[in-house]
Amino acid sequence: MSDLSKITCIEDLRVVAQKRVPRMFYDYADSGSYTQGTYRDNEAAFQKIKLRQRVAVNMEGRSTRTTMVGHDVSMPVAIAPTGLTGMQHADGEILAARAAKAFGIPFTLSTMSICSLEDVAAGTDRHPFWFQLYVMRDRGFMERLIDRAKAANCSALQVTLDLQILGQRHKDIKNGLSTPPKPTISNLINLATKPRWCMGMLGTKRRTFGNIVGHVDGVGDVSSLASWTADQFDPRLNWNDVEWIKKRWGGKLILKGVMEAEDARLAAQTGADALIVSNHGGRQLDGAPATIDALPSIAQAAGKDIEVWLDSGIRSGQDVLKARALGAKGTLIGRSFLYGLGAFGQEGVAKALQIIHKELDVSMAFCGHTDINQVDSTILVPGTYPL
Ligand code: FNR
Repeated sequence: MSDLSKITCIEDLRVVAQKRVPRMFYDYADSGSYTQGTYRDNEAAFQKIKLRQRVAVNMEGRSTRTTMVGHDVSMPVAIAPTGLTGMQHADGEILAARAAKAFGIPFTLSTMSICSLEDVAAGTDRHPFWFQLYVMRDRGFMERLIDRAKAANCSALQVTLDLQILGQRHKDIKNGLSTPPKPTISNLINLATKPRWCMGMLGTKRRTFGNIVGHVDGVGDVSSLASWTADQFDPRLNWNDVEWIKKRWGGKLILKGVMEAEDARLAAQTGADALIVSNHGGRQLDGAPATIDALPSIAQAAGKDIEVWLDSGIRSGQDVLKARALGAKGTLIGRSFLYGLGAFGQEGVAKALQIIHKELDVSMAFCGHTDINQVDSTILVPGTYPL
């Protein structure tokens, strides 16, 4: 299946990525925390929801176009922020941002990216993208990051609220995934069997955490980064920090990681533009419900002044349609684009977006709709979805 034209679904991309990306980095993407129960539930919960097929309805003139925080998008999907993306494929963040730009959807750059804000701005001819901010103890560094995001033409800021401390992923520990990666025998053997990946990495100049290295006193290379990062995530994060960030940023603000109705109400009170129902793709609180199950009560509690979006577990256009039906105005994809990137670089991300778009368009039509903005819970079979 090394031929892109034979790829028909996200699972195909995952299979190729698993072969091509060194295990330590593939596992980093394809894993959840602890028992991985929430990671698995995110996908499984979508499967339980059934769609109502309508017939003899005019399907001509369909559109998946809509808006996310006022930005026109070709479908209600954005690329989620993922750390170490440049380890799935050399220059991964730039390639994914280019694919998103070509498809007319937003790309979000993680604080923990390999390519820097400036690299992505230059690599996309300063096309606007979104930036994801972690709340860190070093507030001076955060201020500089916010200013750099503005200078790089970022058009929205996502603040991640669910990572004050880190959920443990067993695979990362067993693989010795750290900064810099541990040169264990099995890692070295695995790298030696991935010549394509290694050549790609050698061909790039951007192999550090570009948003951090060189921008913090005493962090000049990857090895000095590890100890700095380890205790930078701020366990004291609270709603006052969100207000401070909102003021400093002054633009569109998105709050990521809301899983409870009460937190949705608090998020709405901050005046943020959108919240993301997210359990970090099952990478933080193992035992948390699937996001699609948590969505309806959050959408109801959030009110009209804040857009509600969803991520975690989206592997198809049908999943996007179901999220939309249950009240998510937008969605984000993490692993679905990472698999494409690891498998085929920019073309693989483009393929992932084409697959999801086509599935969304066709499924919407089968449900009797031609405009994504008209879709609501009436397309779902009663009793198969959470109320
Ligand atoms: C993430 N996620 C994430 N979120 C964030 O706010 N900042 C980050 O740096 C990262 N890093 C990261 C790395 C990897 C490898 C993954 C898979 C995920 C979470 C991400 O933004 C999103 O919430 C999930 O990926 C959504 O779940 P799916 O689509 O991957 O199932």
